[in-house]
Amino acid sequence: MKKLHLETASLDELILNLREMTHYESSDYERLREGLGETHLRQRLQGQLRLYGLEHPPRIKTVIRIRRRCMRQLILAGLWSLRLLPRARALARSPQVVEREIVLPNLPEAFEGYRILHLSDFHFDFIPELPEIVGKLLSGLHFDLCVLTGDFRGETTGPYEESLEHLSRTRPALGEKVVAVLGNHDNVEIMLRLPEMGIPVLMNQIMKVEKDGASILLGGIDDPHFYRTHDFSSMQAEVESAPVSILLSHSPESHREAAEAGFDVQLSGHTHGGQLCLPGGIPILAHLHDCPRGMIRGSWTHQQLQGYTSRGIGSSTLDVRLCCPPEATVHVLRKHSRVNE
Ligand SMILES: [Fe+2]
Repeated sequence: MKKLHLETASLDELILNLREMTHYESSDYERLREGLGETHLRQRLQGQLRLYGLEHPPRIKTVIRIRRRCMRQLILAGLWSLRLLPRARALARSPQVVEREIVLPNLPEAFEGYRILHLSDFHFDFIPELPEIVGKLLSGLHFDLCVLTGDFRGETTGPYEESLEHLSRTRPALGEKVVAVLGNHDNVEIMLRLPEMGIPVLMNQIMKVEKDGASILLGGIDDPHFYRTHDFSSMQAEVESAPVSILLSHSPESHREAAEAGFDVQLSGHTHGGQLCLPGGIPILAHLHDCPRGMIRGSWTHQQLQGYTSRGIGSSTLDVRLCCPPEATVHVLRKHSRVNE
């Protein structure tokens, strides 16, 4: 196959090259083209092929792979030499339930006390027993809706089937209503597979969540971190007229555009809260571009937007965490705060 120039390649050429590396059929890409439109899909596939290193000669690709492997070994060796490795592995498998309230003065009465379970960054391939851990954690927990803010796969490229298999094993624990957005570790092709598990994927779209005749808006955007294929243009009018609007965005990096579009709330992940932190939960690395460090985890605000960045339920790069446990968050919607009552 002749060398592909990503910037100038047509969508059909991109699809042809991706089909060499994945098991997806042309009919799958046709469905994606219909669902996302030519421009969005082309930009997404360009990014995916860039991650596959298509522009690099094989020698450079090998160097990149070795460098990544060495970095992982170095982290493991560092933790081992500090006698922290067993503790770091145990912490990565010990998620906490974090319950918090979001106060929204315009909340319809029917949604008072509505509970949204928020899970992010499963990165299933690094902790294959995560479905059982999550099942145990969520057993007996009450929630009305479950939202997933992306990064189901561990690696950014390569096979996806294992992660989908783990997600399917986790699915019964997530309740009846589940909605997802994709992250920077997620191939766009999986948006065809998630609905088969009863998980609709919002790709720059909004939907209504209804309860007892009232409704609030739930919006979801494509990954704003690596692919930058997020787009608010089709949402603004409906968001402005809704009493309450909640955005699902893989990364807090979309906070300025979300506030401009009129959203009241943004739920995100991506940062893992730093994952390997110093005592007191001080993160060493942030993995955020053009974003205040305060958005690396927990609650934050930007103009009218009330944001929350989950520390994530899984772990990336390696199955280790320090001073930063994984979390499952329950956001309780309230018209008035009950914290001090
Ligand atoms: Fe991510």
